[in-house]
Parts: sequence; C-alpha cells; structure tokens
Amino acid sequence: MKILAIESSCDETACAIVEDGTKELVSVVASSKDFHEKTGGVVPEVASRKQLEFIFPVLERTIEDYCEKIGCSDKEEAVASIDALAVTVGPGLVGSLVVGVTAAKTLSMAWKKPLIPVNHLVGHIYANFLGDPSEITFPAVCLLVSGGHTDLVLMKGHGDLAYLGGTVDDAAGECFDKVARMMGISRYLGGAVLSKRALECKNPGAAKLLPRPMLDQDNYDFSFSGLKTAVKRYLEGAPRDISCTAREFEEAVVDVLTVKTIKAVNHFGVKSLLVGGGVSANTRLRESLKNATEAAGVKLFIPEPRLCTDNAVYIASAAYFNNVTKDLSEIRAEPSLNIMGLT
Ligand code: KG4
Ligand code: ZN
Repeated sequence: MKILAIESSCDETACAIVEDGTKELVSVVASSKDFHEKTGGVVPEVASRKQLEFIFPVLERTIEDYCEKIGCSDKEEAVASIDALAVTVGPGLVGSLVVGVTAAKTLSMAWKKPLIPVNHLVGHIYANFLGDPSEITFPAVCLLVSGGHTDLVLMKGHGDLAYLGGTVDDAAGECFDKVARMMGISRYLGGAVLSKRALECKNPGAAKLLPRPMLDQDNYDFSFSGLKTAVKRYLEGAPRDISCTAREFEEAVVDVLTVKTIKAVNHFGVKSLLVGGGVSANTRLRESLKNATEAAGVKLFIPEPRLCTDNAVYIASAAYFNNVTKDLSEIRAEPSLNIMGLT
C-alpha cells in the first residue's frame, strides 16, 4: 500500500510517499526555521504563512520525484498508484496544522482517496518502523523527546499505547533550546548547536555540578525547568567555559532521560525500546541509551538522525501500521473528512 503523507505541525512543511509503512519512496521537507531564528522563537502567524507558501511547491515536488522514481509517464499515472493519504492532525500550532489538513482534505476529495489522520507524536515512534521493523517486539517502551514533548509510553501493539509519564514543565528539546539561547550560542532550535559545543569541552570536571531533577522519584515524570535555572545561576557565577557548561548540561539531561527510561524498561520487562523526536538525534543520548540497553539486554531502536526531526515519512508509516488490517473502504467511511472540525 502506497501512502502519501503531509506533515505541517510547526515550522516544517513536509510530504512523503511510503510503501507498506517501511519503504521510503520520496520525502520532501521545507523549513521556515531561518525566519524564526530572527525572532528567537516561532511566531505562529509567520509559521502558518510560510506553510501556505511552501505547501504547493512541496506537494508538486513530491509527485515529480515520485514519478521519476517509479518511471511513470505523467503525474496522473503517479497519482493513480497512490492508495491513501495521511495527515498530521496534532499536536502542533493550529494555524500550521490547518494548512496541511486542508491540503490533505482537498486532495482526498479531488483524487477520491481515503484520508488517515495521524497524531504527530505517535508518528515520531514510527520513524523506527522504516526499513526492516521485524525485530521490534511488543510490548515496547517508547521515549519521545521533542521540542514540545518528553513522554514515556508503553506500546502494547499498533494503536495500543499507554502513557507512563512525561515532563511536568519544559520538554527536553525546549530546555536545550532555552539553555542554548541563554548561553548566547543559538537563538532558535539550539539543541544541535549546544551538543556540538559540548564536544569541544577539553577538561570536563569530574563532579556532577548540575541537578538531575526527579531522578529519585518513583514515577516516570520529568522536570527540566529547574535545570535550566541552575544553568542560569551557574553562568551568572564565576566565569565558565561555555563548552564545558554545555557538556555538563547535556550530561544532566541525558542521565535523567536514560535512568527513567531504563527504569520503565525493567519494570515492564520489555525487550524493545523505541526512541523518537528531535532530541533523539543527540549523540550523547544515543550513546547513553545504547550502553544502558546493552547492559539491560534490551534491543534499542533509534531512527537515523534525518528521521528524528519533523518529516512526513514517519507519518505515512504510522498511518499504514495503524490501518493495515482495515479495508480501504473502511477508512473512507471514517469521519476523517471532519478532522479538526473542518467540514
Ligand atoms: O521533533 P522535533 O523536530 O520537533 C518537535 O516536534 O518538537 O524536535 C525539535 C527539537 C528542538 O528542541 C531541537 O533543538 C531538538 O529537537 N534537537 C536536538 C538535537 N537535534 C534537534 N536536541 C539536542 N541535540 C540534538 N542533536
Ligand atoms: Zn516533532
């Protein structure tokens, strides 16, 4: 089954076509992040206007690339070979979401193809199902670490998710971004920049000077806002090397994420850990989870960095795995044309 998916929840306008939830045929991503760099954060109105500007070129490019890939004679032939559409319906910025949802609804009606609504966070998990997902076993623990969310989820099967815990304040990515801004090294989406700076630290101190919030609490919740304040105080004190401060901060976040995740893995006795979201591109987190899962005898699944941040490939994959047992006519009959109350 070939699914064309659209993702427009924040500042990326993305479209992809994926076969049977695992084979990426084409992926196009446009981003308005350069515009948000100027303002030091996303201005929702600017993000949604950029979505409007990018959506048609991104869709056109997707069909063109796909046509070239399958060697079709014209776009009609390409469209005819697509079985269903999928679209992110939330969470996200409403003005941005509306652009993708409206485009998907319009194509669904014009092309007479079923439309599958997908939750953005569930989508992030499915970045692990691209390629060969045969080694993933259920139940699995999922760690979702993005700019807006930090959640631990128990996945018993496709469409069977139970929330275990999550951040009570800032998300991990949000904390990376705010600390990077505080350090003056990046005004927007500073996670990757901060991580790079952390690698430059020549003399990391032996002592763990920053707190590991909620580490000892008997739950699966996280808190990162206090850590951010601790870094602020740290920077206001004696002059410190920015790279080593970045490293200490990154280590604190990674320690908390790793310990709480492994706690969930052990408690539920799962054999697979699936990680997703922009922060899972972080090298230190990837290494830490690799070591911890090896020690726990658990298989770790983390998407390649390109698939950690927002794109439409995993949206198509999530749409497939959550509907593969259904008849396409069944999907068509769902109230999917009333996504977000738009008729
Ligand atoms: O999943 P994503 O692309 O968008 C949301 O759904 O939020 O995640 C974006 C977040 C940002 O906070 C960004 O700074 C963070 O992921 N991020 C990183 C790295 N790459 C992206 N954080 C730490 N280290 C990285 N290498
Ligand atoms: Zn995301």
